[in-house]
Amino acid sequence: MTATRDMLDALSVRIEPGVTFGHPDPREVMIEPPVLIRPGIYDIDFIGAFTFMGGRQTELRHISMVGRFCSIAYNIMAGVEEHPYDFLSPSPMFQGAFDWRQADRFRAENRDILDHAAHIWWQRRDAQFHRIRIGSDVWIGEGALIRRGVTIGDGAVIAARALVNKDVPPYAIVGGTPARILRYRFEPAVVAALLELTWWNYGLSALDGVDMSNVNQAIDRIATNIALGRAQIYETPLVRLDGSGEASMVRYDRDAGGFVEVDA
Ligand SMILES: CC(C)(COP(=O)(O)OP(=O)(O)OC[C@H]1O[C@@H](n2cnc3c(N)ncnc32)[C@H](O)[C@@H]1OP(=O)(O)O)[C@@H](O)C(=O)NCCC(=O)NCCS
Repeated sequence: MTATRDMLDALSVRIEPGVTFGHPDPREVMIEPPVLIRPGIYDIDFIGAFTFMGGRQTELRHISMVGRFCSIAYNIMAGVEEHPYDFLSPSPMFQGAFDWRQADRFRAENRDILDHAAHIWWQRRDAQFHRIRIGSDVWIGEGALIRRGVTIGDGAVIAARALVNKDVPPYAIVGGTPARILRYRFEPAVVAALLELTWWNYGLSALDGVDMSNVNQAIDRIATNIALGRAQIYETPLVRLDGSGEASMVRYDRDAGGFVEVDA
């Protein structure tokens, strides 16, 4: 069944005007409710629950997943295109971009040799453009640039204006150009306990009674909630937006080995 705008509202899947998914080519996206997606250009396969992102000049591309409880600010660029700077010129006009009339004769008379170079570039580019992976409980500050293929670990913080060109370990705070580890959010034993708990897998149910301002108390309480069965793994049907923007609700069916549509 096709989801309606009312259904998205009821699920708190809030997609503001000015959102483009699947740029430049149409592409399916799976969204786990609830989320808030502000204006921007997105190419993301999966967006986890309780995450918000976007606004202003956001362009988040070539991303396989954004986990749960992520806070992704505005003006962030990820997985954006790169140019062949080791060719004579990095200009994309030599790979067939732009239809400038002044280049018509040049293009026509040099088609084969231009196609040859463009082929080499696209092969290399496709081999290099691994998809970015962003874990859960990640905070990305304003204006960060995240390069193709990077993995950002659970709990990491990316400082404003960072240029992230290497994987970021869980719970690291990174900043600068290129980004370096400034410090970790918590001491190693606390980080290890949090990575063991992976509290975000339980949605909010592990967080009952948790004092957010006291991480040690929080760890104890989450562990108790899990041990006593008060916390359940958060599982909810996903909203699937196909390349044309049509929405449907789906869940993963192990027997079918894929997603099946469910009623709203
Ligand atoms: C990363 C951040 C959270 C760190 O905040 P903080 O813990 O208060 O940091 P401090 O001011 O104590 O600085 C700690 C160190 O990190 C450095 N640092 C802080 N922000 C940095 C940045 N954006 N880039 C590079 N280095 C940075 C500081 O210079 C300092 O280095 P030093 O110890 O060598 O002097 C913060 O600087 C930031 O970038 N916030 C993002 C805000 C934002 O984008 N909001 C948008 C709306 S969500």
